Amino acid sequence: MHTLPNVFKFFRMHETLKNTDTIRRIHEIRDEFPILREMVNGEPLVYLDSAATAQKPEVVISSIANYYRQSNSNVHRGVHSLSQTATALYEDARTTVKEFINARYAEEIIFTKGTTDSINLLAHGLGKILIDQGDEILTTEMEHHSNFVPWQALALEKKATLKIIRFDDKGEIKPSDVESMISEKTRLLAITHASNTLGSINDIKEIVNICHAKNILVVVDGAQYIPHAQIDVQDLNCDFYVFSAHKLFGPTGTGVLYGNRKLLNQLPPYQTGGGMISEVGLQSTEYASSPQVFEAGTPNIAGVVGMAVAIKYLQETGYAFIEAHEKNLLRLATEKLLQIPGLKIIGTSENKVPLISFVVKGLHPFDIGSLLDQMGIAVRTGHHCTQPIMTRYGISGTVRASFAFYNTADEVERLYQGILKALKILS
Ligand code: ALA
Repeated sequence: MHTLPNVFKFFRMHETLKNTDTIRRIHEIRDEFPILREMVNGEPLVYLDSAATAQKPEVVISSIANYYRQSNSNVHRGVHSLSQTATALYEDARTTVKEFINARYAEEIIFTKGTTDSINLLAHGLGKILIDQGDEILTTEMEHHSNFVPWQALALEKKATLKIIRFDDKGEIKPSDVESMISEKTRLLAITHASNTLGSINDIKEIVNICHAKNILVVVDGAQYIPHAQIDVQDLNCDFYVFSAHKLFGPTGTGVLYGNRKLLNQLPPYQTGGGMISEVGLQSTEYASSPQVFEAGTPNIAGVVGMAVAIKYLQETGYAFIEAHEKNLLRLATEKLLQIPGLKIIGTSENKVPLISFVVKGLHPFDIGSLLDQMGIAVRTGHHCTQPIMTRYGISGTVRASFAFYNTADEVERLYQGILKALKILS
């Protein structure tokens, strides 16, 4: 009785992945990612580390090279034509991002170096205008260090309290768990949309409702969620939403901070210098408004241009297709991996982004990861910058296989066979 539905589920899903239209589409997609043709350690690469950084399609790679070949110039600084072209490309990218996440205004989109940079900018600014001694900052036990350490450091600096929302055994946080941690002193919640280690997706819309009813600002780390599903910042109604281009099939060193315009107008600059001023006197300076005030110095123009191309590529591919295919991959991989004796999945929520963290009894994640690498299979091992999660489960690390829409059912099979082979060698 117990196994029948699972077996049935496996066949149904396996059939979906064997659908010839899907296979054709995935192969067309794979052809657009040159790195997926690489051999690693003598084997065709199986790239299962997209949660660390996603691979880039040819259109993104060539857009960056073409920018340097044809348009390279500094932005917002020149009267000459090339500078105007570069500025137009850079500001068009802002509009692309605005429309992509459905922000109200282009000035709500700040270009940063990435998620970590966006959160540090916020911790710095909110530390100056929002957090005082005795206040409480809420965050969760499932955060990436990038959405944990900046708030911990701020709490220490301001003599505020960092309160940590715990997750349950499946790796889930319910909106009521957030509610129960709120007090009169709570000013801010910093929470991930999806966990990079557990995969769990948080109900941000409901959590924001709860927080806003008590005048608490919400910062959302969207780095792991946005590559997999469409987001709408007006619908989520969060105050800040941050993400990185490199997990979104764009270049490294580029990211986004979305902020509600009213709040951004109150936030002090993070860095000062060129490009963020309106008037500099000998004794004092008047700053520009958002977004320029938060983009001191020459920005990563090529990175921003590449990010916009990546977003357009994603939009053309379509999140409906991406979500459906990735859900199938996740289900197939989960069912296969659970057949492996001694393997335990860390993070068993029903509602996950397509990644699986696992441990195998008696074996070190690093050893499994190294053997998989010899077979051409790229996975991440270790604590995944989430040591509080490791502490919660009493483990030092996991192996993590993370999927993107360019992965195939055959690659899931190679992972499964690869783990079996690694276990044979190691035990
Ligand atoms: N945050 C990235 C990961 O989870 C680097 O792998």
